[in-house]
Amino acid sequence: MLIPEHSIRPVDDIFKEIEEEIKPLFGKGKTADYIPALKNADPNKFGLTLTYLDGSSKDIGDSRLNFSIQSISKVFLLVMAYKVLGGKLWHRVGKEPSGNPFNSLVQLEYENGVPRNPFINAGALVITDILISHFDDARSEILSFAQNLAGHGNVQYDYEVFHSELKHAFTNAALVNYIKSHGNIKNDVNEVLDTYLLSCSISMCTHDLSHAFLFLANNGYTPNTNERILSKSQAKRINAIMLTCGFYDESGDFAYKVGLPGKSGVSGAVAALAPGHWTIAAYSPELNSNGNSVIGIRALELFTTKSEISIF
Ligand code: DON
Repeated sequence: MLIPEHSIRPVDDIFKEIEEEIKPLFGKGKTADYIPALKNADPNKFGLTLTYLDGSSKDIGDSRLNFSIQSISKVFLLVMAYKVLGGKLWHRVGKEPSGNPFNSLVQLEYENGVPRNPFINAGALVITDILISHFDDARSEILSFAQNLAGHGNVQYDYEVFHSELKHAFTNAALVNYIKSHGNIKNDVNEVLDTYLLSCSISMCTHDLSHAFLFLANNGYTPNTNERILSKSQAKRINAIMLTCGFYDESGDFAYKVGLPGKSGVSGAVAALAPGHWTIAAYSPELNSNGNSVIGIRALELFTTKSEISIF
């Protein structure tokens, strides 16, 4: 077997070392500044949770502090749309890395309104449109999907974050309108924008987030509700897209440093998984210039390096 069955060192020891080794990184990034709710996040917060496939967890720091998961919600949206459309989904959105920032407009023009992948904002807007077409009430379906995966109801929409996002959604509004002009948005642009932004506001803690990702480490099956969410093959495909596109123009760097499929959010959240082993979620709101958590990524890099578990 290529991946060792267990961490070569006790996880508690590794977690303690991580807590020490990330200390010099506080102050090295900047909280997202486009909305007050993110800008005013306490930069000294740090939470980390590792969850095994049996649902047991190791937590350190602020692992019970809720934050809006932002772009990590794109994973849940994608899984829902993939369940609805299967492979036909790829007529509406691509699955190649974009090499561009998450909110970039440039590729859309020469690729005729078909976003490069489901994790850039343009792609998530198309995915949201698909969900609105399919469900009578996409907003409540999205929230209950996330709640079920996390295993309980302390997962909610954060309406303060949502309303704040709405007031500053100029680029996302440009994206959705441009895609609509190419016929790749079928519903009302405002409904798509609102639903997308509401899903970005889903709030949970690293403990919940690592539980919500368990099905992706467990061949598509969530132990929380004893439900098959995806087939083994579908879970493989979602993980592949996370590995190649989950961190936008930093995806290669994340794969190089951490070696796991994962997804980031502009709130400072990062979630990743080692298939067949565990999931890991980190929160620390200071971001690097690509909009990804400085300390979150470093914590995951330290964990896979010290445990000697990654997909490589
Ligand atoms: O759409 C936006 O701009 C935000 N609500 C989410 C972006 C995001 O999380 C990008 N990830 N790092």
